[in-house]
Amino acid sequence: MAVPETTIWDRDPHTEAKHRVIAGYFDAWFPIMTSTFPSLTVFEGYAGPGTYEKGEDGSPLIALQRLVDRQELLNGNKAVRFVFIESRKDRLDVLQATVAERFPQLPHGITVGFSHGGCEERWEQSLTSAGSWGMPIFANLDPFGPGVPYRLVERLGQNKSSEVLVTFMSDWLRRFATLTDIDAGDVQFGTTDWRKVAELGDPEEKELFLVEEYRRTLSRAGFMLTSPFKLTDEGGHAFYLIFGTGHRRGLERMKDSMWRTDPVQGLSFRDPRDPNQGILDFGNPEPDLSPLVAILSTRLESAGVGGLTIGELKDFAVLSTGFRAPHVTRAVQVILGRGTATRDPIRGQLTKQVRIRLREPNYALASRPTF
Ligand SMILES: C[S@@+](CC[C@H](N)C(=O)[O-])C[C@H]1O[C@@H](n2cnc3c(N)ncnc32)[C@H](O)[C@@H]1O
Repeated sequence: MAVPETTIWDRDPHTEAKHRVIAGYFDAWFPIMTSTFPSLTVFEGYAGPGTYEKGEDGSPLIALQRLVDRQELLNGNKAVRFVFIESRKDRLDVLQATVAERFPQLPHGITVGFSHGGCEERWEQSLTSAGSWGMPIFANLDPFGPGVPYRLVERLGQNKSSEVLVTFMSDWLRRFATLTDIDAGDVQFGTTDWRKVAELGDPEEKELFLVEEYRRTLSRAGFMLTSPFKLTDEGGHAFYLIFGTGHRRGLERMKDSMWRTDPVQGLSFRDPRDPNQGILDFGNPEPDLSPLVAILSTRLESAGVGGLTIGELKDFAVLSTGFRAPHVTRAVQVILGRGTATRDPIRGQLTKQVRIRLREPNYALASRPTF
């Protein structure tokens, strides 16, 4: 996908998918956070014009609208700040005008700040003058290319209950693979370790390496839980959304939103940790759980005779794979249905306490009745 030069541009299907993910996440984030904290910030370091060619909302408008629709959450005493940075004046002007037109009067408690300039230079001052530090910040960092500053991500990682959603464009990943964006890469990763990508030959391997390297970067910055999502449109254009949080609930809600994203023709979501893992094919409304069945079987095998509880299997799946907790129940039902594992207790619902043990190898086959 070529980088648009015009003030506004056509929204493509994978951007639409990204917008659905963000909207779904805000639907969970605003109620949880406004009930817990007196104030919050939604930060967009690369805000865009706020609208697309056919009038669809951009991410700043999506965020605002989601809260304005639920303004009762503000309860008369909560404050939510929206801080938008955009480097192109024409785009910032459109953003400002779109916000003013849509919300001539914002509900009490909501403020919007606009900042013209590069995110790299403006983030610290913008968030400081908005009074954002010390309270949760959700940062959507969605540039066209490389260079999201590690210093920004690190500062957010140290800030109370903050989260980031960073966009990696695949074109950028490919360019990285030829090392032509070394400076921007160093800024983004905060070290030069990522340059080892040059030693890899296979483009898929390079892409996977960079995504994993950036997840490690987010962990280093303080976001211990990360989740990457790959969105690909039918033309093969792809980008990654990499989410970082310190809270399991945040991770779960973000995964919920990804998995709920409506089917769009030719679009797919993949967990890049394993090209065959956690695939939600949007052409097929049923998620393919066979990779999870294999992963959990391996996990149970390593656990030995003691087995693992459903709760432990869910923890593992949520924190270390692209799957969600409800998928585990269904995958365990498949494993039990095959007769390769036992459950304790043997009856009742598959609650978190139920223990699953793999049978001895070949036991299931050996124990089948012979005729
Ligand atoms: C992918 S678009 C943002 C789209 C928006 N997040 C949405 O989903 O509607 C990236 C925007 O970042 C702006 N931009 C590019 N480099 C920037 C920089 N260094 N600092 C701030 N904004 C930048 C571009 O002009 C563009 O409008």
